[in-house]
Amino acid sequence: MTSVPHSAPISTAHGAPTPASVPGHPHCHYRDGELWVEAVSVTALARAHGTPLFVYSQAAMLQALAAYQRGFAGRNATICYAMKANSALAILQTFVRAGCGLDIVSGGELVRALRAGVDPAKVIFSGVGKTRTEMAQALRAGIGCFNVESLAELDVLNEVALSLGLRAPVSLRVNPDVDARTHPYISTGLKDNKFGVAHDQALAAYRHAAGLPGLQVRGIDCHIGSQITEVAPYLDAMDRVLDLVDAIEGAGIPISHIDFGGGLGIQYHGETPPAADALWQQLLARLDARGYGQRHLMIEPGRSLVGNAGICVTEALYLKPGEEKNFLIVDAAMNDLPRPAMYEAYHAIVPVQPRAGQAPGKLWDVVGPVCESGDWLGRDRSLNVQAGDLLAVCSAGAYCMSMASNYNTRGRAAEVLVSGDEAVVIRQRETAEDQLLKEQTLPD
Ligand code: LLP
Repeated sequence: MTSVPHSAPISTAHGAPTPASVPGHPHCHYRDGELWVEAVSVTALARAHGTPLFVYSQAAMLQALAAYQRGFAGRNATICYAMKANSALAILQTFVRAGCGLDIVSGGELVRALRAGVDPAKVIFSGVGKTRTEMAQALRAGIGCFNVESLAELDVLNEVALSLGLRAPVSLRVNPDVDARTHPYISTGLKDNKFGVAHDQALAAYRHAAGLPGLQVRGIDCHIGSQITEVAPYLDAMDRVLDLVDAIEGAGIPISHIDFGGGLGIQYHGETPPAADALWQQLLARLDARGYGQRHLMIEPGRSLVGNAGICVTEALYLKPGEEKNFLIVDAAMNDLPRPAMYEAYHAIVPVQPRAGQAPGKLWDVVGPVCESGDWLGRDRSLNVQAGDLLAVCSAGAYCMSMASNYNTRGRAAEVLVSGDEAVVIRQRETAEDQLLKEQTLPD
């Protein structure tokens, strides 16, 4: 797998300086006046496959994974990629072949996970509302662990397992009540949200679980939120979880694995999250100090493995300057990239072939064709752009395609995975016919 690193600014064909790389994107760079992902021209991909088009770097994913693997070197650890971040089969295969397990949250994700060839024993099933059908499906598949989130779910899982003549391996997701200091919609470790079993009820819940014949207590888990950019919330959560492990084992219930969830942030716009290996150096030091360093450890990272491995390439359709606002209308929209509309999230937007000269004084709101004022991808962006230009929406590897919808009967975008100088279409563009397949017209 090759990439061409550039550390100094380079010149475009027109002689204007362009940035050498895209911040946070290790395998995206400018060369010969245009953007490349690894050794593949983004312009060539857009010509061949159309836009909007998601382009992912496999090397960037493996590099992100390697940071975790370095962090856990010499430890008994399982990295379960949280596939909700991006569940394309080829991406799952990339991580599974590199040794990962998978963290799933639905029966649909289980089907994908198995299709990608994961060892079922390395699948963990998270989520607050598993149905009986999903539980049975996962039990039959022989998954490694159910991360259970309530007493009521323990009881139902027990029933389902007994009805199949099986015992369900369980871990309880505990809510450590720490503030991950992230966006309220993606913060999950505080008392006032729907996730996990409250810290002060956890011991009683473990006693309850240990008494149910269809369950086999295996571990404990927590996940305090997403896009976390500091170490402190992880350390706080770890201390709270380890206090519980002390208490649960003190009550005679052995805990064989401890799962610290996912949540590590990425750089969207100047954030400086810790590197995965640096984070785990600190967390492992704390685990060692508390005597848990040799326990089977698990984590469920999603965004940090794929977020900055992907861009979404879009074409500028129309420039619509106005008195109050200048709109740049592109062919990608909130159905492809829902994060700005949902969380007011910032995604950098860069030209694929930067134009010579300074951007004119105008700032552009980059918006899509969907009939909603909330359909925006970026606000007040300084871009030197004309209709027909290609733009790359950055940090589009996580929670973009996996959250895409068909709103406005827009087909979901195509996806390409790049490795070195090779590019493979891993998902074809969805057509209107594809969307109509499951529908039924009324009789005449
Ligand atoms: N484990 C559990 C139980 C989770 O709920 C999540 C994410 C993860 C692991 C992976 O977290 P990560 O490492 O990706 O932060 N759609 C939102 C993010 C929602 C995250 C939901 N849970 C966004 O676009 O920011």
